[in-house]
Amino acid sequence: METKRLIVPLALVGLTLGVVSVSQGAKPSDDPEGDRVVRGFQIAPVHLTLRNRDRNLVGLGSYIVNAQAGCNDCHTNPSYAPGHDPYLGQPKQVNVAGYLAGGRAFGPIISRNITPDEHGLPAGLTLAEFKKVMRTGHDPDDPGELLQVMPWPVFQDMTDQDLRAIYEYLRSIPSLDSPYTEP
Ligand code: HEC
Repeated sequence: METKRLIVPLALVGLTLGVVSVSQGAKPSDDPEGDRVVRGFQIAPVHLTLRNRDRNLVGLGSYIVNAQAGCNDCHTNPSYAPGHDPYLGQPKQVNVAGYLAGGRAFGPIISRNITPDEHGLPAGLTLAEFKKVMRTGHDPDDPGELLQVMPWPVFQDMTDQDLRAIYEYLRSIPSLDSPYTEP
């Protein structure tokens, strides 16, 4: 009886120690971001300008933008090319002609053009300004107002490197005119 009572807790302790030692003993990946950088380049739907760019950041940024954060779903209008809308069961192809140029309406709120402006700045924002938008939701076009559709309360928890990667990627995509005019 006594022994049986002991065996269970001991087994549990053993199990816990085992788990801890396995996770401590697990070899860290040599390059944890490497796979994401490679995949990022594979899935970028548009031609990228890579001169004077940090390529690892561009690849990582593409991965975050295209495989994780869904920027295209809100910032491209329509999001998919004609005949290539996955929601209609068609083979997926992003609408390259309007990629991240904004124009999608959410009630009265319209998503913005986040492609590089004539100075090469994504959405016309410097890196510091871009990080501020992503971390605080303060509307750069309307000081004092908070962005109401943009999921900045989610994005604000990204690492500094992830935000820099998104910015470096957005700096590398084609510049497009906005499909709409500001009211
Ligand atoms: C759920 C839809 C949605 C998603 C997803 C989304 N956005 Fe937005 N974003 C918007 C809308 C709409 C606005 C404009 C106003 C608002 O939200 O009130 C905006 C505004 C912005 C702005 C401010 C631009 C400016 O100068 O005024 C930036 C920068 C931006 N988004 C970047 C991104 C990036 C980068 C991603 C992906 C990591 C992303 N957004 C994902 C909907 C979205």
